[in-house]
Amino acid sequence: FFLLGVFCILFLHLLLCLLTSLRKGPVWPETTYILGQQNNHAPSPLAKSYGNIFTMWAGPIPVIVLSGFQAVGDGLITKAEDLADRPETPFFNAFANGKGIILSNGRTWKQQRRFGLSTLRKLGVGKKSMEHQIEEEVRLLVETFAKEKGQPLDPAFPIVNAVANVISVAAFGHRFSTDDEVFHQLVESVRYILNFAGTTSHMLYELFPWLMRYLPGPHKKTLACRDFIYSFVRKEIKNHEAAGTLDDPRDFIDFYLAKMEKVRDSTSTFDEDNMVHDIFDLFLAGSDTTTTTLQWALLYMVNHPDIQEKVQKELDNVLGSSQLIFYEDRKKLPYTNAVIHEIQRFSNIILIGVPRQTVKDTVVLGFPIEKGIAVLPDLCSVLRDPEQWETPQQLNPNHFLDKDGNFVTREAFMPFGEGHRMCLGEQLARTELFLFFTTLLRAFSFRLPEGVKEISTNPVVGASVHPEPYQICAVPR
Ligand code: HEM
Repeated sequence: FFLLGVFCILFLHLLLCLLTSLRKGPVWPETTYILGQQNNHAPSPLAKSYGNIFTMWAGPIPVIVLSGFQAVGDGLITKAEDLADRPETPFFNAFANGKGIILSNGRTWKQQRRFGLSTLRKLGVGKKSMEHQIEEEVRLLVETFAKEKGQPLDPAFPIVNAVANVISVAAFGHRFSTDDEVFHQLVESVRYILNFAGTTSHMLYELFPWLMRYLPGPHKKTLACRDFIYSFVRKEIKNHEAAGTLDDPRDFIDFYLAKMEKVRDSTSTFDEDNMVHDIFDLFLAGSDTTTTTLQWALLYMVNHPDIQEKVQKELDNVLGSSQLIFYEDRKKLPYTNAVIHEIQRFSNIILIGVPRQTVKDTVVLGFPIEKGIAVLPDLCSVLRDPEQWETPQQLNPNHFLDKDGNFVTREAFMPFGEGHRMCLGEQLARTELFLFFTTLLRAFSFRLPEGVKEISTNPVVGASVHPEPYQICAVPR
């Protein structure tokens, strides 16, 4: 009876939306409904049917989808100012309460984002000091792989440990060992939260928050996972306060506590809740994304041994085997750099994109969009836009090489988004991807386990797109 009731209400809602959309959607009749995530990695299946700008109804919430390089570019770059907000939906509000960086808006977002960026720089991002810290994590990862002596291994957990440790040292001032129970729970919590995004349960919460608030289900577990990460961060803050290291700040918490000391007026957004959520955001966004990209990278190298060999040859010829690798070396390694870009383009880990909301009335590609409307820039449709890429559906490093083999950047390469809310960790992520990828490929040849013909590239879709668990052999070179 309960389920029947829920479905009746749902049906009435959809009917209502259909009627409302007749007068409200800017691109009616190109409109569709979603309830629950699409389990589809194909490029912009919706755009194929609906064009490069259309309205999608998530229950009663209209979402304007921008599809393809032209529409996403016009929205995120040309109209950067107008599309700078995130939607304030019932679940986002329950989850972040307007705090932190990823889901905040207005003054809070401006101040926390600016502080986040400048603190990451103070902690070494963009400088040699951060590269050394990343190199230390890669060295330990190489040791972990080497212990298996070329036998099949699942690289997922060692990689997430190494990547999350880079952000942990920056945020908390310490790393976690692979067998740390708290670390396992943090990683599981991050994954659970990311997998919840876009599910039916998420959509039901957006539609019926007054009901879902009282019902058990995945939405409750998602909030519990958030609370677990929150309480870990709060404990870390207490330890920092007790240690009294503000005069000589070494990590994000130290810098934030010092800032709170300095800015004591009542209108300041620098408070403990924003600090907790900032760190939560950095940990969430900074661990899963780079990890997932590296998981795809190794999988592609195993499935494309010709590309792997070419990268290794270039690394051997240009760097030799002994010297340390620095991010600057990418300029001497055009093929390797092109392969890393192509891995990011093709793996397309932020399947659709992170939603935005209009700050004021605006016009995108000639269509008027009212203030306060959610806009989804479909990044996948840009990274696989057939008008921008020669072979959008194939892993092809030539997308980033000219005819003489020089590296070329491409305007439609937007895995980090664009505009005012573009990824805050882009510089860190690029440095990590380069140092992890090159060091691993110099140390090992990655191969299929005996008897295995190919590893599945089927995606598992959540807020990010990751591969199914797989095993490969890391054969020392
Ligand atoms: C391969 C790695 C990564 C990818 C593909 C990626 C991608 C993205 C994308 C697509 C967005 C949304 C941008 C938009 O709305 O236009 C984003 C936002 C964000 N990313 Fe990343 N990211 C990566 C790594 C990182 C890392 C390492 C950090 C942390 C240091 C980070 C922190 C953030 C934050 C805080 C935001 C929210 C920015 C805001 O709303 O102002 N990301 N990222």
